[in-house]
This record gives sequence, C-alpha cells and structure tokens, in this order.
Amino acid sequence: MTFHRHRRLRASSGIRSLVREHQVTVNDLVYPMFVEEGLSGANEIGAMPGVMHYGLDAFRREIANLSELGIPGIIVFGLPAEKDERASSAYAERGIVQEAVRVAKAENPDLVVMTDVCLCQYNSTGHCGIVRDGKIVNDDSLTLIAKTALSHAQAGADIVAPSDMMDGRVARIREVLDEHQLEDVSILSYAVKYASAFYGPFREAAHSAPSFGDRKTYQMDPANAREAMREAVSDVEEGADMLMVKPALSYLDVMYRMREAFDQPIATYNVSAEYSMVKAAAKQGWIDERGIVMELMTSFKRAGADMILTYHAPDVARWLKEEN
Ligand code: PBG
Ligand code: ZN
Repeated sequence: MTFHRHRRLRASSGIRSLVREHQVTVNDLVYPMFVEEGLSGANEIGAMPGVMHYGLDAFRREIANLSELGIPGIIVFGLPAEKDERASSAYAERGIVQEAVRVAKAENPDLVVMTDVCLCQYNSTGHCGIVRDGKIVNDDSLTLIAKTALSHAQAGADIVAPSDMMDGRVARIREVLDEHQLEDVSILSYAVKYASAFYGPFREAAHSAPSFGDRKTYQMDPANAREAMREAVSDVEEGADMLMVKPALSYLDVMYRMREAFDQPIATYNVSAEYSMVKAAAKQGWIDERGIVMELMTSFKRAGADMILTYHAPDVARWLKEEN
C-alpha cells in the first residue's frame, strides 16, 4: 500500500512555519474607534467589553497606545451631540469625526486614518440615507454623503470609507474629492455590505438603529453572492481603491470570490456581534479567547483579506508581540 505522509510537514514548529501559507501580522490590522462629542474620558460599551466611547482627550491617549503597538490604521465613527433630518453634524467642519481626525493626525502623522462615511449616526431617522415619504431616497443622499466625505478629507483623513450602500456614492465622492484637489485621498468602499443581524451591538454603540423599518432596501440580502460581484464591479468602475466585505465570519465565501475576481486590495470588517460573541463565551470560560481570535484572523487572511477591521486589534497586536 502506498500513501502520502502529510504529517512530515507538520513534524516540528520550524517546518510548520516554513510551509505556512498565511500569516496574520500587525500590519493587517485596522482598529474601529467610537468618538463621542462632548464626552471627557471614556466609557465602555455594554455589549462590547473592552471597546470604548472616547472623548477627544481619551481618544488622543489611545492613539498613542495603538501607535506603540504598531497598529497601522484606525477607522473613526462619530457620536454627535445633535441629530437632524439633514444629518448636518455629519459634514460640520468642527464635527466630532473631523475633530478626531485632526487629533489623530496631530498625535501620529504616520497613522492611517480612515473615516466611516454615513448618515445614520447623524440622521434623526437613523437611516443611512435621507428619508422622504417613508422611503430612503438615493440621489439626494449622495449629495450629503459626498459632503461628509469631503469634510473628513479636508480634516486630514487618508481614506474615506462609505458604508451607506446608496448607488453611485463612490463616483460622487471621487468627483467631489478631485474637484477639491484631494486626489490623494483613497476610497475604501463598503462594496459588499449585507443587511446583517451581526451589527446589533454596533447600533447600540453608535446610537444608529433605524427609527422605523430596516436596512434591507439598501444593504444586501445575506443569501446573495453573485450580487456581491455586481456591487463590487460598480464600485471599481466608479473609482474605489479598495473593496470591503462586511460582515466577515459568515461571508468568507464572498471574500474568497472577491479575492479571485479583483486585483484591488480587499478589506473585511469583523463586526460587532462577531466580537461580542467571542467576548461573551470567553467571559464564561467556555472558549480560549486568544486561540479563537487568532484562528478567526487567520481565516480572514486565508479567504483573501488584505486588511482586517477588528475590535480585537489591540489584543491581536499584543499577542503577536508576545510571540516574538
Ligand atoms: C453604519 C455602519 C454599521 C456598521 C458600520 N457602519 C451598522 C449598520 O449598517 O447598521 C457596523 C459595524 C459593526 O457592527 O461593528 N453605516
Ligand atoms: Zn449608515
């Protein structure tokens, strides 16, 4: 009988490291951060242990910590003091995200500062676009979304990341940035964003739950993978520099297809409930948190992600440091 001895290449940690196909490094990590207008210090978010709402002062200190850990990028979410029907605080020159970008860039100019571009946190309706007669209207939303992206870029953001899922927003944002000589600012499109129950804890964290209805008329149906290709093709044609798949865990197949079909860098967002589930089970002592998290991160790399937006980023960075 002849058979293959696969175990030869697993016999020692040295050989395993030589044949390892994918590796998670600190260079893959982007840390999502919530900055709250008018807050001083930081408050932990109930459903996301270890994740904070930051006032600008505490935010500055945390930027220093993250830089120390070698984390290359953050993505900023804002909690404004006021919401209205035109989402005015989303594009205010001294809005909370705009101020946070200035603080982050002043603290560490080398940190890649990304901003989430959306209206839901700033909109009294909690929807990602403008609402008229109970409908989320596409084209009028684009104007405000592009205005928001422009204000982030003018504050110094390196990358703007639209998460609203309106059609045509990448093209409009690119046009407005270029008109303002901001051609070096990149667009990371949330190209493939599903209408997911995995955003639950985030909506509590960002105070952005829709006040009526749901997001199913703009976010994608979790049952569809071919449609993800159409979304991504549009965004590439419109000028997206990078493409995101969100959430991560339940969509590794989509990530893999994107990796195969596009040359653009692929990002994935390991979203709030994916984080909270791990934290909850770890707290009970039911799972090995470090083992689980590293395995999850590895699965994102294997599926083709170049970068991972994750609330686990500081822990992962610390664990990777310990290994070296
Ligand atoms: C808002 C936005 C959401 C997330 C990022 N941007 C929530 C939503 O679409 O309802 C989810 C992030 C997470 O769950 O961690 N446009
Ligand atoms: Zn939104």
